Amino acid sequence: MINNHVIADKVMKEMASELNLKKVVAEKAVDDYVKDGMTVGLGTGSTSEYAVRRVGELVKNGFRLKCVATSERTADLAQRLGIELCDLNDVDHIDVTIDGADEVDPAKQLIKGLGGALLREKIVAAASLAEVIIVDSSKLVEKLGVKTPLPVEVVPYGYKKTAYALESQGCKAKLRMSGGIPFVTDAGNYIYDCKFESIESPFFLESRIDVIPGVVENGLFLNTADAVLVSHPDGTVTKIV
Ligand code: 5RP
Repeated sequence: MINNHVIADKVMKEMASELNLKKVVAEKAVDDYVKDGMTVGLGTGSTSEYAVRRVGELVKNGFRLKCVATSERTADLAQRLGIELCDLNDVDHIDVTIDGADEVDPAKQLIKGLGGALLREKIVAAASLAEVIIVDSSKLVEKLGVKTPLPVEVVPYGYKKTAYALESQGCKAKLRMSGGIPFVTDAGNYIYDCKFESIESPFFLESRIDVIPGVVENGLFLNTADAVLVSHPDGTVTKIV
């Protein structure tokens, strides 16, 4: 019993410190990059959630911001915080988007999409003058794919056939599930989490995946990040530019 308490306490402390690292990097990104009057892209995920909350504080303090959300989940949170949301079609451009990532390599290439929002995240990133990525140091890798699978969004029609084609690229493709049924994205699609041993040539792999019929988008975000802010266990934040 005592041992269980000790273990639970340790797990809670580890969770708390991980959450704080997300908060630290998210708040620094908002404070450094978001200025009054801007149009801001709001990312998706547990790290981005802290950024959205900080944006909400700025709005409460009088900042006039227009925001574009990268998912329904983020839009719900933003609405609850009183943040003005716009349709992407109604803005000329986005000044800065702050979003999380699942893996970051030394050249700032990313894997995103474990949170299921890769499609809108990629569209919003493409419309942004600056894409700022916020991660804690556990997300840094020497080569993409070593830790996490590559999420690939596919249309539901013939999805098992799409999976065979994905696996021909050298991965194990696992259909993402939620509550016993396939996870459905905001666009009504499915996601395959494709585990490679590592991704040796991200640009080549992306070109192969993108031509598979049924693939909507992949989670490789190549040459997308303008800056990556990284929080470290000692509480410091460094920047990769
Ligand atoms: C969602 C994403 C997220 O940014 C990514 O999964 C990181 O999430 P978290 O901050 O919760 O680790 O790409 O589609």
